[in-house]
Amino acid sequence: MVKDRWWLAVLMIAILGGTGCSEEPGANEASSLQPGEEVYGQFCFSCHAAGIADAPKFGDAEAWKPRIAKGPALLLRSTVEGMTPGMPPRGLCLDCSDQELADAIDYIVLNSQ
Ligand code: HEC
Repeated sequence: MVKDRWWLAVLMIAILGGTGCSEEPGANEASSLQPGEEVYGQFCFSCHAAGIADAPKFGDAEAWKPRIAKGPALLLRSTVEGMTPGMPPRGLCLDCSDQELADAIDYIVLNSQ
């Protein structure tokens, strides 16, 4: 009986071996991120990439022009406080510092003009 199942053991070893640590070192990638890009990618992206709920779209210069004209201080304020009904306070990144939020805004703005 058991003798017939040698292949099962081989298969198991192959599978376990295959799930080993084959990850590429990501250090280079991480350091090439622009400031704010990570927060954007984790939080802001979900609405601003596709323009959900009328969010000004990432990269849409027309949509961002009047927002950018308010100046960075006001943009930070509306991000921290949120804008009813669409924009949640802190863009949902409740653990973000004001600086991290400002970086995320900069990241969007720099890529949307
Ligand atoms: C749940 C969806 C959602 C998420 C998540 C979100 N936003 Fe927004 N955001 C909106 C919407 C909708 C508006 C437009 C609000 C309006 O004009 O009434 C907006 C507007 C803005 C504005 C323009 C504010 C102004 O004064 O005109 C900025 C800046 C902004 N978001 C930054 C961010 C940042 C930074 C993040 C991530 C930390 C983020 N948003 C995450 C939906 C979202």
